[in-house]
Amino acid sequence: MSIDSTWLRCPNCFADLSALEERVYGCERGHRFDRSKHGYLTLLPPKAPRTLGDDRAMLADRAALLESGAYRPIADALTDAVLPRATESEAADLRVADLGCGTGYYAGRVSQTLHDARLLLADRSPDAMRRAVRAIPDGTGVVLDLWRPLPLRDDSADVVLNVFAPRNPAEFARILRPGGRLLVVVPRAAHLHELRRRGALLAVPPRKVTAVTEQLDSAGLVRTRSRAVEYLLSADESTRALLIGMGPTARHTAARRDDHGTGTMDVTVAVDVLTFVHQRAGRPEVPAA
Ligand SMILES: C[S@@+](CC[C@H](N)C(=O)[O-])C[C@H]1O[C@@H](n2cnc3c(N)ncnc32)[C@H](O)[C@@H]1O
Repeated sequence: MSIDSTWLRCPNCFADLSALEERVYGCERGHRFDRSKHGYLTLLPPKAPRTLGDDRAMLADRAALLESGAYRPIADALTDAVLPRATESEAADLRVADLGCGTGYYAGRVSQTLHDARLLLADRSPDAMRRAVRAIPDGTGVVLDLWRPLPLRDDSADVVLNVFAPRNPAEFARILRPGGRLLVVVPRAAHLHELRRRGALLAVPPRKVTAVTEQLDSAGLVRTRSRAVEYLLSADESTRALLIGMGPTARHTAARRDDHGTGTMDVTVAVDVLTFVHQRAGRPEVPAA
């Protein structure tokens, strides 16, 4: 369990945070934050937001689904996109922030490839953060709200991961160094459509990739690559229950959790892995893929 304070700024006054005592972090203006016994810091702005992130049951389903390897091809595509032409020296000490990290599965896969990467794990859900720092003890874990100004320093990340999670374009651009990469995973229209048809999941909004691309472009994050990952997953009833239970629909439509057919069926997994490069003038860029 470790906290690397070079990622962090105060959520109240935005001054840099540093370690003051063994478990206490603070800024020059006197704001103080205790590291939890689980090893993460909670850095929420003064007026606590009402969003809470994923709950324990959703996270348990998500962890079981991901540990089964069902989304491994997505993780592999994401890892490839982190530094497509990395030399060993480029990959060393790469600063990677997973924003909306959930259980930490994708950051964990990246760290298995890039052993020296310095990882920041961030999510609104304390339960998610507990799981993420347990999975990646060397990562810096922070409970934060992606809809608010982030408690992360300017230019502190070489790579930002954002997998099925909320996006904050202006803040992503602020924390990403010029030339750094933002990797976004979004569902395609066909994603899990067999379950969607049965009413168990929310629809994917039309033109999702275009909307995300336009939203990020306006913050100076320019799309340089789009890779489709699509395959059929042989899903038995318990796998289908996990796919439904790990999403927000399960909360609102408990009855539908049990309405996803019997036996084993093929379920389509279809996502886009999008690479954006932060184009702020005047600094060298990581070569585009
Ligand atoms: C669909 S899950 C994806 C988690 C992980 N990236 C994955 O794919 O396994 C969305 C994640 O975003 C987090 N989240 C939702 N709202 C958030 C917010 N306002 N700030 C930070 N995290 C948030 C949830 O707690 C959840 O872990």
